[in-house]
Amino acid sequence: MWRSAPSEVKRILVTGGAGFIGSNFVDLVLEKEPLLEVDCLDSLTYAGNVVNLEKAVQNPRFRFIQADILDHNRLEDQLGGRGYDWVFNFAAETHVDRSIHEPRVTVGTNVMGTLNLLEFFRARWAGQEPQNRFIHISTDEVFGSIEKGSFSEGSRYAPSSPYSASKAASDHLVGAYYHTFGFPGIVTQCTNNYGPRQHPEKLIPLMILHANEGKKLPIYGDGGQWRDWLFVQDHCVGVWLAATNGEPGRSYCLSGGQELTNLEIVHLIIEELSQLTGEPINKLQSLITHVQDRPGHDRRYALDSALARKELGWKPVVPFQEGFRETVRWYLSHLDWCESVQNTEYAAWLKTHYHQGQCMEEGPK
Ligand code: NAD
Ligand code: TYD
Repeated sequence: MWRSAPSEVKRILVTGGAGFIGSNFVDLVLEKEPLLEVDCLDSLTYAGNVVNLEKAVQNPRFRFIQADILDHNRLEDQLGGRGYDWVFNFAAETHVDRSIHEPRVTVGTNVMGTLNLLEFFRARWAGQEPQNRFIHISTDEVFGSIEKGSFSEGSRYAPSSPYSASKAASDHLVGAYYHTFGFPGIVTQCTNNYGPRQHPEKLIPLMILHANEGKKLPIYGDGGQWRDWLFVQDHCVGVWLAATNGEPGRSYCLSGGQELTNLEIVHLIIEELSQLTGEPINKLQSLITHVQDRPGHDRRYALDSALARKELGWKPVVPFQEGFRETVRWYLSHLDWCESVQNTEYAAWLKTHYHQGQCMEEGPK
C-alpha cells in the first residue's frame, strides 16, 4: 500500500511533529523513505515533546526547528531558506476541553497558524513546481455529530466546538487557496486516533493512567458517545498516500471502522489492565465515575473512507485488538514519559495563567 515519493521530492516539512501523530509520522517516513530529508517545525507547547523525536534526532536526515507557526515574521529566518517540496501540517491545538476553556488560543493557532503557513508557502512556491503539496491534517469533528450512517467528503460542515470550528475554518482556507491561487493543498480528515505518545489529557491515555494509579475514571455524561478509533500508524500511512496519490483541491476521509462508546473503551482498558497487572476487574470498575458532561458534547462521529480507499489505495490494516493492546502496554511501560509530559503541561499552564496574574483554580489536575 505504501508508495514512495517521486525522485524530485527531496525534502519535506512536518509541522507539529513533536506531538502525538506528527512524531509517529516522522518516524514512519524516515523509516520508509531512505533518501528523504525530514524537517520538523514545532513550537513545543505543552503537547509537544522532543522526547517524542528521540529516534528521529539520531538520523542525519532529520532536523528539528523550534518555531511558532503564529510568528509569521520569523518563519523565513527560522526555515533558513531551505526548500520544501511537501509540507504536512499537523501543528494545532487539539483538545476540545481546552478549546472550550481557552477558545482564543485554539482558534489563534489553528486558523491564523494555518493561514501563515499557506501565505508563506504560496510565496515560496510561486510559479509552483508540479510536485509541491501542502497536506493539511484535519478531523471528522468538522462535520459535527451524526446519529446514524456516516459523513463523507461532500458532507456539509457543522462544527460544534471551538476546536472543530477552528479546524473547519482552516480546512476552508486550504480549499480557498486552491480555488483562488491554484495552491496545491489537500485536506485529510480522520477519526479519533489511538496509539503511543498521545497526550494524557485525551480519553484513552487518561483512563489507562488513572486506572493504573487507582484514581477515578471520569466519564463525561452517560458515556454513551460514539467514537470511531483509528490506529495512529494507519492514519500516518493515509496522510502520506494523500501526498503521493491524492489530487490537489481534494479532501479525503480516513476512518478506522472501529466504533465504540466511551464506556465500552473504558471497560476494554480495565480488562486489558487487569490482565497485565493482576488487579481485580471489579476493583477497577468501581473507579468509573460519571461526571458533568462536556458542554455541546458531540454524540457520535463517523466517516466513510470509500474515496480514500479508491483514490489513495488506503485502508487501515492494524486490527483494533492488536493496536489497542500495544497502546495499553506502551503507556504502562512509559510511565516516566507520561509524568514528564504532564509536568510540562503544568509548567505551560503556570506560564500562561499564573504569570499573567489570573487565578489558579482551574489549572490542570
Ligand atoms: P498534539 O496535540 O499531540 O500535537 C500538536 C503539536 O503541535 C504539538 O507538538 C505542539 O507543540 C504543536 N503546536 C501547537 N501549536 C503550535 C504552533 N503555534 N506552532 C508550532 N507548533 C505548534 O496533536 P495530535 O493529536 O498529534 O494531532 C495532530 C493533528 O491531527 C492536529 O491537526 C489535529 O487536529 C489532527 N487530528 C487529531 C486527531 C486525534 O485523534 N489525535 C484526530 C483527528 C485529527
Ligand atoms: P477526547 O480524547 O478528548 O477526544 P475528542 O473529544 O476529540 O473525541 O475525548 C474522546 C471522548 O471521550 C469524548 O466523547 C469525550 C470523552 N471523555 C470522557 O468521557 N472523559 C475524559 O476524561 C475525557 C478526556 C474524554
